[in-house]
Amino acid sequence: MIKIIHVAGARPNFVKIASILKACDKEPQIESVLIHTGQHYSDSMSKAFFDQLDIPEPVINLGVGPGSHAQQTGEIMKRFEAVVLQHNPDAILVVGDVNSTVASALVAVKLGITTIHVEAGLRSFDRSMPEEINRVVTDSISDILFVTEPSGVRNLRQEGIDPYKIHFCGNVMIDTLELYKARAAQSNILNGLGLNIGEYGVVTLHRPTNVDDHSVFARIIDALEEIQKDIKIVFPMHPRTYNNLKSSGVSERFDALPNLMTINALGYLDFLKLMSESKVVITDSGGIQEETTILGIPCLTIRENTERPITITEGTNKLVGTQTHTILKGYRESLNNPPKKVRPKFWDGKAAERIVQVILNSLYYRNGAFANDNRT
Ligand code: UD1
Repeated sequence: MIKIIHVAGARPNFVKIASILKACDKEPQIESVLIHTGQHYSDSMSKAFFDQLDIPEPVINLGVGPGSHAQQTGEIMKRFEAVVLQHNPDAILVVGDVNSTVASALVAVKLGITTIHVEAGLRSFDRSMPEEINRVVTDSISDILFVTEPSGVRNLRQEGIDPYKIHFCGNVMIDTLELYKARAAQSNILNGLGLNIGEYGVVTLHRPTNVDDHSVFARIIDALEEIQKDIKIVFPMHPRTYNNLKSSGVSERFDALPNLMTINALGYLDFLKLMSESKVVITDSGGIQEETTILGIPCLTIRENTERPITITEGTNKLVGTQTHTILKGYRESLNNPPKKVRPKFWDGKAAERIVQVILNSLYYRNGAFANDNRT
């Protein structure tokens, strides 16, 4: 048997871990131990995802909760180390780029345990993003790196990572989308919100650079004010954004916009349904850029850069920056020239299966009985 500790802490982690755990469960040689760091803790940001994506109860929730980056990262490290020592795994698997990812990878590597990073190699080349620091650090210390798109392979090689560590296996977030899209189609969210198919836009915002800086947030609201004159907008709100809205005193402005509806953050199935039937998605999320590419929905990304360039070159994504006029220009262009639906290589619902085979080849059949086809 090989024992793998899987770590998940924040909303996008849960979506990724769902398909990895299912693929591991099909292999009798793998024993999976799930640990929740507690970085995200509210029902809407955590429990809803466990329930809807059939993720098993974690063996422990470290309960770290909010804090500064140093506090959150340090607290996860302290609490995680004790649990790792107790379970003595053969490998620790981390996903994505959140504080939980880097904290647990650091613990794993310092205990000499094989460290696996799923969604490696993505780079925005913007070191002011906390996630970029998390990506660079996690990749530089991990032993097995699973990449979602060719840019990830190039980035890792440029950073001098041993090519034997790098495996291009596809996108586990899309595995989960494929697995749950039929169930999501049955969601009643459109009726509940009084929306018609193809006649509304969806907005999500949570990046500190967009919502913590009041002048940037105000520019984005200006753009949304114009867009809601054209179509209805639904804005499921991340707790960070909600808190900022209250503290910056712009919630009255939001309330005054007749065609903009703010609602609580949604669970996976309702949100997938909402995106799938929308006219346009406006976001600063990483994962949503990928999901809209597969759904064929125009995506306007309110950022100057993306670590997921394939969503632009092959997908439906457009970087529109954070200026009111650039957001509005991007909006008009997307409506006049809707993108085509495409599917980047290995975004086919089978990424987790490939990943598990590489893990077995690397750890279980480590005497080289199997060739590794995905090695780059
Ligand atoms: C984190 C990730 C980001 C990811 C995002 C997805 C890092 C550095 N950032 O950002 O990469 O895209 O998650 O959501 O790890 N909060 C709640 N309820 C919750 C969770 C958070 O109220 O369930 C509040 C916290 O108390 C805090 C704020 O939201 O005030 C931000 O949470 P935090 O974990 O710091 O990071 P995110 O902004 O969610």
